[in-house]
Parts: sequence; structure tokens; C-alpha cells
Amino acid sequence: MTSRYTYFATCPKGMEDLLVQELRSFGAVSLKETRAGVSFTGPLEVAYRACLWSRIASRILLLIKTFPAHSPEALYDGANCIPWHEHVPVKGTLAVDCAVSHSQIAHSHYAALKLKDAIVDQFRSMTGQRPSVSVERPDLQVNLYLHRDEAAVSVDLSGDSLHRRGYRTEGGSAPLKENLAAALLLRARWPEIAREGGPLVDPMCGAGTLPIEAALMAGDVAPGLGRNYFGFLKWKGHDARLWERLLKEACERREQGMRNLPPIAGYDSDRQAVQRALSHVERAGLRGIVHIEKRDLATASPLHKNSLAAGLVVVNPPYGTRLGEVKALHPLYRCLGEVLLEKFPGWKAAVLTGNDELAKATGLRAVRVHTLYNGAIECKLLHFVADPARIFKNAWDYVSII
Ligand SMILES: C[S@@+](CC[C@H](N)C(=O)[O-])C[C@H]1O[C@@H](n2cnc3c(N)ncnc32)[C@H](O)[C@@H]1O
Repeated sequence: MTSRYTYFATCPKGMEDLLVQELRSFGAVSLKETRAGVSFTGPLEVAYRACLWSRIASRILLLIKTFPAHSPEALYDGANCIPWHEHVPVKGTLAVDCAVSHSQIAHSHYAALKLKDAIVDQFRSMTGQRPSVSVERPDLQVNLYLHRDEAAVSVDLSGDSLHRRGYRTEGGSAPLKENLAAALLLRARWPEIAREGGPLVDPMCGAGTLPIEAALMAGDVAPGLGRNYFGFLKWKGHDARLWERLLKEACERREQGMRNLPPIAGYDSDRQAVQRALSHVERAGLRGIVHIEKRDLATASPLHKNSLAAGLVVVNPPYGTRLGEVKALHPLYRCLGEVLLEKFPGWKAAVLTGNDELAKATGLRAVRVHTLYNGAIECKLLHFVADPARIFKNAWDYVSII
């Protein structure tokens, strides 16, 4: 095995620049941003750090080989040349994940099957035995990306998407993916606000994703510390010593970082949402640190009323898709605008919405706007700042945070 590898990190569209910054901080070099991902090189440590520390990445793929694959036979032959015994034991389990675009082999399922055949046939001809296929937490998760008849075969070091930090149970109304929540917080410059002691409030917190991600970020907690599965743990190239060292370092950083967290709160008017958020806070090890409360938006306020520090309101209100739903949400957005002005003077606010009409209903003018994708839905992240010097003239001026 070589000590320097080429990788591809995937992420949701619209966050690639944030991923580049993260990967560079882990020691990645030759970074190249593409749509929904970043390629880079580095030793295994960089990839392990990305699996453990990236708040933005979905998957970290270690490239094994690229080759032309104009036909199923060419795909099979190319894959058959890879020394698979270096990656998985004959008694191990494997799964193949595939994405296909602009290629003569048009079906991803068929391409994955061809690749799987190449792997098991190679083992069978060499040993008479073959690894078995398991889609649930396999020992080796192989990734095939077939683009313009060029195959890229990789080991999926993440195994399972990294947005699954381990603290969230499924269900609930439209929770944000954890890496999208982290992107909102980074775009809103939460790390700088937190460093200066500024508090955070999410007045419609749903499953609690934004307050939890905010606490992990401000507390220097590696998001991967709560996971018990990664694709590299049973991979034959795994460096257990290196991984142990990184885990130890992450635990030390968590201990240090959690000593000085600013106040972080999430409110929601829905009882079930509040219960779910509380259970997620508990699972994330943030009980007593992230405050969750049943409160209607109209009564939202900073956690510590006498605190002078201005903080960040970050929120993802419901935005509806049908016309009737959108109209019905106008009063909620108007209320949000009023609450921000009256209860959070001097604070910054970041509001994610998939509907421009509703954004206008806040009555506020954004100083910056980012485009992000919540699954397939294009959303706008609107940044607001209220200038406290103008409050008493009853006129609000939204100045740039830059
Ligand atoms: C899109 S979800 C938020 C999802 C959340 N960011 C997450 O990741 O789980 C919107 C939330 O707003 C809450 N909500 C709707 N109207 C509200 C109101 N008037 N006051 C407080 N919360 C409200 C809903 O209960 C729902 O949980």
C-alpha cells in the first residue's frame, strides 16, 4: 500500500467551498472543487481526519483505480485487474455502490453487479472461495463512479454517509441533514460568534439539529465521535494505531472545548418535536448544555435576558410547497421578522427558506444571501443584521456583516 492516496469527498451541492476549507485544515493538498464534491490527495491520516472531523462531507472515497469502461466487458476486465485481496479478506463481506452518468452502460445497478462479479470471480479463481455480499455495514464498501465511459473505483472510507452522526433517530417533520445544518452555521459565521461568547437561539428547532450542531462546533467536538461504524474499520488497509491516536486527540479536544460553551437554545411549539429534540440532545451528550423548551415563536427570546452579548438566531421555518400552504405561512414569517427586531436587537440572524415570497413576508431585507440545497429543493439562506443604534428611531438598518 502506498502512503499517499487520491481521494474524492462528496457533499451536498452549494457547500463545496466550505468542504475545501475543512479538508485543507486537515492537511489535504491538490484540492480541486467540482460539483457536489472535492478531490484531494494526502496520507491516510488526512482521510481519517476527514471521516472524524468533517461537518460538511457526506462520503470520503479513496480512489483505487480509473480505467476506460465503454462496455460491461471492459468494466469487468478493468475491475478484475485490481488486487482485491489487499482490500478485503476472502471470508469478508462487501457491497458495491454505483453512480452512472453520460455512459454507454446506462444502468447503475447493472454496472454495480458487473463490478461485484469481477471481485468475487477473482477470489474464486485464486482461492476457490469468495467474499459474500452484505448491504448492511459490509467489511468493504466499494464505490463505482462511471462518468463518460471512464470508471473510477474507490473504497468508501465513510461506509455510511457522514451526515449520520449517531445522535439522531429517524422521523419527525422535515429535519435538516446534519451537514446542511453545519453549513448554515458556518455560513452564518457561528464559530466566530461563539468564540466571542455570543449565544444561539433556534426558535423553531424541530429535531434540534441546528442547536446540537452549533454545540458540537463551538465545543470543538468531532462529529464522528458519536459514530460506531466507518467503512475503513474492517478494510485491510486500515491503520488501527493511527485511528486510535486520532480518537484520543478528539476526546482531549472535546474535553477542553466543552468547558466554555456559550448559551445555546432551541424552542418549538410542537410537543413531539420538543421531546424528540430533547432525546437527540441527550444522545449527543449535550444534556444540560443545549437548552430545549416548548415555546411558540411569538414568545421566543434570548436564553439569558440580562446577557449583553449579541448572538445568532438561526432558523429553518416551515416553508410549504402548495400555494395554500404558502399563504397560510405568511403570518408566521411576519411574526419571525417582528420577533427578531423586538427580542433580539443587535443579533445576527440566518433564515433558511425554500420560498422567496415567504422570505419577503418577514419584512426584513437580507444583507447576504446564499443558495443551499435541502435535498432537491433549492433554498435561500438569508442573513440579517439589526443595527441597535437605530432602534430608538424606529428604523432598522441592515448592515453588511463583512
Ligand atoms: C422545518 S421544521 C424545522 C426543522 C429543524 N431545523 C430540524 O432540523 O429538525 C419547522 C419547525 O417549526 C415548528 N413551528 C411551526 N410553527 C411554529 C411556531 N409558531 N412556533 C414555534 N415553532 C413552530 C414546527 O413544529 C417544526 O418543528
